[in-house]
Amino acid sequence: MNWFGFTFWKARDSLDLLGISLEDVCSHIFAIGGTGSGKTSVLKILLRDILRRGGPNIGCLWCCVKPDEAANACRVIELAGAQDRLLILVPGEFTYNFLSFELTRQNGSPTTATQLLQDLNNQLSQSKGEHQDSFWANLYAMLLTCCITIAWLSKREKVTIEDVYRVMLSLPAAFAQVASTEFQSSSYAFQLLQLAENGIRNAGEMRQYKQSASFLLSEFIQIGSKARGAAISEGSAVLVPFLNSPMYETVCAEHSTFSPEMALDGACVVLAAPIMSHGPAGMLLQSIVTTQLSEAALRRLNPQTTTIVVRDELQMLINNPAKEAMIQSVSRSQRLAFVSGCQSLPTLQSAMGGNQAEQELHSVFANYSTKLILSNHCARTNDYFSQSWGQHREDFVSVSETKEEEKFDLLNFLMGNDRFLFSVSEQMAPRCPPERFLSLRRGGPHNKLLVDFFLSQAGRTYGPQGDPFTLKTLRQI
Ligand SMILES: Nc1ncnc2c1ncn2[C@@H]1O[C@H](COP(=O)(O)OP(=O)(O)O)[C@@H](O)[C@H]1O
Ligand SMILES: [Mg+2]
Repeated sequence: MNWFGFTFWKARDSLDLLGISLEDVCSHIFAIGGTGSGKTSVLKILLRDILRRGGPNIGCLWCCVKPDEAANACRVIELAGAQDRLLILVPGEFTYNFLSFELTRQNGSPTTATQLLQDLNNQLSQSKGEHQDSFWANLYAMLLTCCITIAWLSKREKVTIEDVYRVMLSLPAAFAQVASTEFQSSSYAFQLLQLAENGIRNAGEMRQYKQSASFLLSEFIQIGSKARGAAISEGSAVLVPFLNSPMYETVCAEHSTFSPEMALDGACVVLAAPIMSHGPAGMLLQSIVTTQLSEAALRRLNPQTTTIVVRDELQMLINNPAKEAMIQSVSRSQRLAFVSGCQSLPTLQSAMGGNQAEQELHSVFANYSTKLILSNHCARTNDYFSQSWGQHREDFVSVSETKEEEKFDLLNFLMGNDRFLFSVSEQMAPRCPPERFLSLRRGGPHNKLLVDFFLSQAGRTYGPQGDPFTLKTLRQI
């Protein structure tokens, strides 16, 4: 509207208000703020507007780890007018044999399936504050690969992680046992070894089979019962969470009703596996689907649709920061976007492995070009942003009063006096002092539903001072 020469510009939606294009979304968005700062609210508004703008050309995977998250996600998808593409996945009510998906995908193999499970194992141990040394990690990775190979060669696309688990738990503990009729008649491992041997299709499979059989029936016995026991317990730790209902019905089914490709074709997938109801298996399933979806997105030759992966509680869903950073850095051209939220930098770092994960934290974080920094009481997070936004020159005017007694002088009284000394100095001061993050509005009725945050986008500056951030406000929906 033009009125007396002034132009009044009204933002169409939150993306307009923040100056974010759909292209920018593909360089990833991160909202960081303390509990109750309005992260979820802001992500909901952004997602509604992203889905609205993209129409059927945008699909999403919304990972829900909190109990009320799925209802929120569904509401946002409905507000965006995308309800016809909504797919709600509740464990027990859909099937997704992720192992079969991994083994049958382009370039998938027992090795890539092992890597997937190893990442989950890291996630489990990191959430318990444990670290693995490489000897054990290599041993149980080898065990997993061999068990997966035997299960795969015998069951093919019907293989499930239950098969892998059963092979692992029925392995012989001694050489004498290998030749015993009892082992040969009752062991699941022996049964699948025979099936695998009979179904070998080519020389490559023969080599895989021989390597695995030799490891499981010979080397693995020789390493001794202590090491063997440790490797089996480590290897099964990641499988066990999936073997309880209702997760079992979902991931141990021979056929899948869901495939990550659905989100790549524009479906709005809400994966409702809250940790309260599904324990660690909920967390692990969300990580698997995210990884497999991301990798599938990167394999696309000429992507026509954009896919958004939403993880409001990123710290619960990140298992391999190096892989995450690698995927993010190449995903822009593949139209795969990450929209994430987390309370603070230390929260994210501890989920990535604690003190030694400083590099990982920054490499993942740097890949999010658009950052929204909300109210926060975490000194480290606030200092980090304050410092990374640098300093600017400020003029300080100081006033001092002379201490000398002066005689009353009418002229001096009327014209001003020289009792006050003024001096002007220049000093460097932070563009955004850390305490500014404490006073941002956090939504809710007492703030009239307003949430304040600093917006920062790589390579962009705002205002006459060229600040690398700008203050923005959104109204909760
Ligand atoms: N739609 C809404 N209307 C009013 N208040 C809300 C709404 N959504 C959330 N709130 C309140 O706003 C504050 C911020 O909520 P939320 O976005 O969930 O924060 P965070 O995800 O950072 O924990 C909370 O106090 C919450 O109770
Ligand atoms: Mg939240």
